Amino acid sequence: MAAADADIYTSEEQRTLTLGGHVGFDSLPDQLVSKSVSQGFSFNVLCVGETGIGKSTLMNTLFSTTFEKEEASHYQNVVHLRSRAYDLRESNVALRLTIVDTVGFGDQVNKEESYKPIEDYIDNQFENFLQEELKIKRSLHDYSDTRIHVCLFFITPTGHSLKSLDLLTMKKLDTKVNIIPIIAKADTISRCDLHKFKTKIMSELVNNGIQIYQFPTDDEAVTEINSSMNAHLPFAVVGSSEEVKIENKLVRARQYPWGTVHVENESHCDFVKLREMLVRVNMEDLREQTHTRHYELYRRCRLETLGFRDTGPDGQTFSLQDTYMTKRRELLSELQHREEAMRQTFVSRVKDTEAELKERERELHERFELLKRRHQDEKRSLEERCQELEEEMISFSARKATAGTLQFHTLQSSLTLPVKKDKDKKNFFTLPSECSLTAGRSLN
Ligand code: GTP
Ligand code: MG
Repeated sequence: MAAADADIYTSEEQRTLTLGGHVGFDSLPDQLVSKSVSQGFSFNVLCVGETGIGKSTLMNTLFSTTFEKEEASHYQNVVHLRSRAYDLRESNVALRLTIVDTVGFGDQVNKEESYKPIEDYIDNQFENFLQEELKIKRSLHDYSDTRIHVCLFFITPTGHSLKSLDLLTMKKLDTKVNIIPIIAKADTISRCDLHKFKTKIMSELVNNGIQIYQFPTDDEAVTEINSSMNAHLPFAVVGSSEEVKIENKLVRARQYPWGTVHVENESHCDFVKLREMLVRVNMEDLREQTHTRHYELYRRCRLETLGFRDTGPDGQTFSLQDTYMTKRRELLSELQHREEAMRQTFVSRVKDTEAELKERERELHERFELLKRRHQDEKRSLEERCQELEEEMISFSARKATAGTLQFHTLQSSLTLPVKKDKDKKNFFTLPSECSLTAGRSLN
């Protein structure tokens, strides 16, 4: 038994055995189908195209229903994306369809940045999925996947060439999403012009290195149809919300004074080819390519920018654990450097502040001394002035007393004078009362 186990684990050779009877694992594909059907599917379409190019009408025509319609104005300052999800059911298959369309695409004077909101939207959906994947407790089985599976790029049927806005946008998006270019409103261009236009578009895409989605040819069941359809790209489509009765059958069509364009008539436009390729044959491949090619690329670049890699600088394999340890060491050493730098900055700042404070203290002290000196000088001069005033007051009082004495003596001497003529008698006798008053006041 032990020898047999050793044989199992060491042998690298694989042997093909024949079964003796029915075991039952041939039902695996059926199990897979029934599981997928019970879970339901999701499909996310991004419609990029100018305002009024026919995005909503084509979606209605493709899924044979009427989704909400909200016309965009031509006065948007920037491009933004509008996303709406719908639950559809066909037979017993449930489909969660998300239609995202560009609002205001091509309406700005400066269109240089028009691709940016679209690129950001696609990246954000990848980022959300990556964050869910990186969670310890993740729930990917019931995760509502919003990653864009296909981008229908609506080209204006000018008959000339692609606009630089179209080329720039497709170039920016081609590594992020499966792009299917379509010529919109193909009923407005003649058959001959359309043929030339298609050739021109394809050569411009090749010349600018733009990778559009190629219908896969590796699965034998679809090799033939897919390779012939690859040659028909870009599809020239017509959409219509109108239904016209033709041979007792209601069909989608556009009616004009000169005739009727049947959306599903392959000699009128490529609508049927688009529906066949997008929905009936390659929907699963589009979903798969989104996960295995575009998301994988996003994930790799994102993890690399975070410092994760599979191989070390010498080419040796690098496990997640190694990456974690290396990153941890790097972060710790960076932390130490930062700590040291912060410490030094702190010390030098403290020194600077200390010196500044000392300088201010010295200045204050000097000002205080100056004020003190000024105050003492003023006090001294005031005291001197006071002294002077006191002396002046004393001398004034002395002079006043002398003047009073003098006045008194003068009055006395005038009273002792001999009596004058009679006519002066009156004056003589009235004089003493005035003189006594004045003298009294002066003496006071
Ligand atoms: P916004 O969402 O406002 O940017 O417009 P949209 O791109 O969704 O265009 P919508 O489907 O609303 O169609 C705008 C106009 O174009 C409508 O009058 C449609 O009837 C018309 N239209 C749509 N598809 C076609 C088409 O294939 N050919 C022609 N000639 N007209 C079409
Ligand atoms: Mg619309």
